[in-house]
Amino acid sequence: MTEAILLVGGKGTRLRPLTVHTPKPMVPAAGVPFLTHQLARARAAGVEHIVLATSYLAEVFEPHFGDGSELGLHLEYVTEDEPLGTGGAIRNVASRLRSAPGEPVLIFNGDILTGLDIRALVDNHRTTGADVSLHLTRVADPRAFGLVPTDPSGRVTAFLEKPQTPEEIVTDQINAGAYVFNRSVIDGIPAGRPVSVERETFPNLLAAGAHLQGMVDSTYWLDLGTPQAFVRGSADLVLGRAPSPAVPGRRGERLVLEGAVIGEGTKLTGGTSIGARARIGADARIDGSLVLDGAVVEDGAVIRDSLIGTGATIGARTVLDGAVIGDGATVGADNELLHGARVWCSARIPAASLRFSSDQ
Ligand code: GTP
Repeated sequence: MTEAILLVGGKGTRLRPLTVHTPKPMVPAAGVPFLTHQLARARAAGVEHIVLATSYLAEVFEPHFGDGSELGLHLEYVTEDEPLGTGGAIRNVASRLRSAPGEPVLIFNGDILTGLDIRALVDNHRTTGADVSLHLTRVADPRAFGLVPTDPSGRVTAFLEKPQTPEEIVTDQINAGAYVFNRSVIDGIPAGRPVSVERETFPNLLAAGAHLQGMVDSTYWLDLGTPQAFVRGSADLVLGRAPSPAVPGRRGERLVLEGAVIGEGTKLTGGTSIGARARIGADARIDGSLVLDGAVVEDGAVIRDSLIGTGATIGARTVLDGAVIGDGATVGADNELLHGARVWCSARIPAASLRFSSDQ
């Protein structure tokens, strides 16, 4: 079966402060580092050899995944001296590939949660005889994405980065971050300098007359680049709405990892995941949220659609809705943090200091 490259070297700036100590693919989602779900899905599709292209916080991947044998994979790691961008990262791992020039190589962005039929993408690549194939998905508001219009046969006709005006929105098909490249195309990317596959490689290939094929697959798809999307993705994995063979335990309203303690009267719903050794007090309500290892939530806290970092503490009766609390931060009792609030790692918010509404 086809081998794969996983791009996991980005800085994950949109996810900060979650990515201050942890690269985005290693932030836990539904109980395991997010990357585990992608590796397990690739393995289930028959992929055995995967090269991880690392850069930012590169040193944490290998100690966790080793040679990949626990997942039935053969994993290799290549670290860039300087970040080379998506295309540069692909070129930089070429020497580790085993495929012949005309053979297909899978490439995945390391922050996409999807039910994509990986085998179908490779089959479609072979039958159409394309040089490069792209997974495309349809979105209601394509403004934040790269648009990829195709002709009736699915052949790509243009690449339009982040359209601004209504006239520029010529399709609702976007680049979904999974590709098949013929090995020879990878070898053709310039070596030793930063290259963006989206902004440089794809448009150049198209201009040179290469065959780029789009495959629209409208199963579950989510870009986990923002905190809200990351929390949503984790909850969807726990609920079983997003497919992954790597979710520990049964699908349902909640996932509670080993050593976590849950107080009396506390309700965990909406795909909430509680990390190992976390301590949740009594009469708390936690819905659709991600509480990482060793975090503490005190009595009566009300938490929705929020992410609580490793070892962070949330005081009694504090309300969080759409908030991100960095690793080791402390939010004292009787605070209210809403609407995308981000508390930095190790920060301390005293009791009753911050509200978005009256306290009476
Ligand atoms: P933001 O900074 O929040 O945009 O996130 P990001 O750094 O992950 O960037 P983006 O989402 O555009 O990256 C898409 C994929 O390519 C992700 O899986 C990144 O890890 C990966 N990636 C981006 N830049 C590089 C790079 O320079 N080297 C490597 N190896 N991977 C990269």
